[in-house]
Amino acid sequence: MSLFKKKRLSRPLPEHIAIIMDGNGRWAKKRNLPRTAGHAAGSKNFKDIARYCNKIGLKYLTVYAFSTENWKRPADEVSNIMNILRDYLKDAKNFKDENIKVKFIGNISVLDEDIRILIKDAEDASANATGLHLNIALNYGGRDEIINAVKEIVAEGISPDEITEQTISERLYTKGQPDPDFIIRPSGEYRLSNYLIWQSAYAEYWFSDVLWPDFKPRHLEEAIEEFNRRNRRFGGI
Ligand code: IPE
Ligand code: IPE
Ligand code: MG
Repeated sequence: MSLFKKKRLSRPLPEHIAIIMDGNGRWAKKRNLPRTAGHAAGSKNFKDIARYCNKIGLKYLTVYAFSTENWKRPADEVSNIMNILRDYLKDAKNFKDENIKVKFIGNISVLDEDIRILIKDAEDASANATGLHLNIALNYGGRDEIINAVKEIVAEGISPDEITEQTISERLYTKGQPDPDFIIRPSGEYRLSNYLIWQSAYAEYWFSDVLWPDFKPRHLEEAIEEFNRRNRRFGGI
């Protein structure tokens, strides 16, 4: 094994990386292509990065695929994104073969029935996988997620003095999972866009101008190196 490979395999990793897969539209525009071509390239890149994360032994990866705000886009763009998702899910048996455990987070209940069935199939097929836990945030909004948690708490009749951070965490889509410790946003935007707003309270952030379809394993490696140089104090000294 080359020294380089050895170094890569031996470095510490974040426990849970969350990525905002942004910049597909601008990537296409730069090439005089329709936005749909950007989403197709972004989807391919997502598969490559998920595989890479699994290969290096990352435990959790959460990717932002479609937000509760993205419905504001033209209907043909939304249906193009849903069709890309359909294609992806149709060969989702790959997850099982790759030992990736896939889970969808977000309000899936309003999506078309065929998509809901494909999602359930993909989750069921990979339920026993022991590699990467891959969360795909779809029709996901951090505020929506917290509202749902509050509704559950009220419906369960939990009294105010019983409510702790755990009461909320346990009612989020990510229940049972560690909070993301590293959030990556390519595309030159410096915001969360309603992503994992509860879970990211103490995450480290990494921003880059690279557009998502151009975001390669070497960019991820650069980000991880930077993560490993950060001094995380969590309010201590
Ligand atoms: C991210 O890329 C994909 C989704 C939000 C679904 P964008 O489509 O937001 O790309 P830009 O930001 O317009 O370049
Ligand atoms: C965030 O990107 C959502 C996804 C990547 C799925 P947006 O492109 O929707 O975010 P804004 O509109 O720039 O905040
Ligand atoms: Mg965008």
